[in-house]
Amino acid sequence: MRQKIVAGNWKMNKTFLEAEELVAQVAEALEKRNLSNTAVVLCPPFPYLELATDIAKEAKFSVGAQNVYPDDSGAFTGEVSPPMLASMEVEYCIIGHSERRKYFTESHEFLARKLDALLRHKIIPVFCCGEVLPERVAKKHFKVVEKQLNESLFHLKKNDMAKVVIAYEPVWAIGTGMNATPEQAQEMHAFIRGLIEKKYSKKLAEEITILYGGSCNAKNAKELFVKPDVDGGLIGGASLKAEEFIAIVDSL
Ligand code: 13P
Repeated sequence: MRQKIVAGNWKMNKTFLEAEELVAQVAEALEKRNLSNTAVVLCPPFPYLELATDIAKEAKFSVGAQNVYPDDSGAFTGEVSPPMLASMEVEYCIIGHSERRKYFTESHEFLARKLDALLRHKIIPVFCCGEVLPERVAKKHFKVVEKQLNESLFHLKKNDMAKVVIAYEPVWAIGTGMNATPEQAQEMHAFIRGLIEKKYSKKLAEEITILYGGSCNAKNAKELFVKPDVDGGLIGGASLKAEEFIAIVDSL
């Protein structure tokens, strides 16, 4: 059965004490829940990963990083490598987020290297894709997403591809309060699944987890998650308050 996931991408938010409080609140709320076939993933900033993985040992969530550098070690000041994440029991890592593509000009090729590096260290990549508004208006959104997958993801062998989580995050929906409609999300998720079927197999296409991200909140999560090809969400702003994040988990 396809793995369902609700992941919180905290981005560059929270002080240490605030992070401690939020992780504790999420852990406590999840304690009372039966999460069969649903993974909850918290992706705090790097400095709080250890705090999160420590609590995760006794709790019902996993921990993800928001970024990684593709080399194992070396003179890359300020960067964090896959073996470092693996040594801290970080299980997931977001890559290809539109904010990294935009502000840090990360290329398709660089993302492909990150993907390979994560898989070598048995960390699950959460690969983000999605179009900007002018591309959607010009009806180029399918082409854009197809290119993102082709250039960064589709070099993988089938058994590695099966380990990847995809997150469709239309850039115009991120942090804007203007989420994709459930129909728009479903249409793109089905398109992505179709590409995977063409490149790999129907079985793999059916098994891969595809998350939706972009202004997903406690109010709209249910109508998005009910769509057959939407397997959960990658949540930004709404993951910063335990109560709202948990309400999204409950919507799955
Ligand atoms: P928002 O939920 O704040 O729109 O952010 C989505 C996102 O970018 C998650 O990675």
